[in-house]
Amino acid sequence: MIITFYGQNSFGIKIGDINIIVDPFITGNKLSKDIIDIHDLKADFIMLTHAHQDHILDAEAIAKNTGAIIVSNFEIATHYENKGFEVHPMNHGGSWDFEFGKVKYVNAIHTSSFPDGSYGGQPGGFVIEGEHKNIYIAGDTALTMDMKLIPMSTKLDLAILPIGDNFTMGVEDAIIASDFVECDKIIGCHYDTFGYIEIDHEEAKRKFYEKGKDLMLLEIGKSIEL
Ligand code: NI
Ligand code: MN
Repeated sequence: MIITFYGQNSFGIKIGDINIIVDPFITGNKLSKDIIDIHDLKADFIMLTHAHQDHILDAEAIAKNTGAIIVSNFEIATHYENKGFEVHPMNHGGSWDFEFGKVKYVNAIHTSSFPDGSYGGQPGGFVIEGEHKNIYIAGDTALTMDMKLIPMSTKLDLAILPIGDNFTMGVEDAIIASDFVECDKIIGCHYDTFGYIEIDHEEAKRKFYEKGKDLMLLEIGKSIEL
């Protein structure tokens, strides 16, 4: 499994021959737009955690370029289905066996309106069990006790957690979240994109390190292989 960071909460996940893009927000992200060209991105699936602009901005363009199937909650999936896109609707607690692995749409505490204010269902995260490696993409969320449910069914190899504070968990709560999901290998996301969520990288990494955890802050465009 290869995971590439595209800024904010956007990642590419390659499992075997299948390419997944999570929460594409690239053309509107000053940190990403000169590094990543969305026309270069391959996608068989686009997974959207919730309907906020900083998670869906480039979903339509990438789906048009690639023919990718949009996977999200029922309301977001229906929104794109009505626009002619191929979708796979899910809802909280539900799993589906995709060709690349099993995906569960799990709880998040946040909001999920579309940029025009229309209803975007309830926000979520994804647990992906693929090719011997299991990952959790928390999406935008507060620390929640529901995270304790995840290791009861899935042994995680990596957790992708928001750490930017203000709109989501900050570093301290993300450290507790990594305890809840029983995973000490973390990629941080949802930081630095706007003024409210700028963080001190070295301080964040040190705080995780002091608890015996490994926080990775990937440069935009860089990948890790699990
Ligand atoms: Ni959000
Ligand atoms: Mn967000």
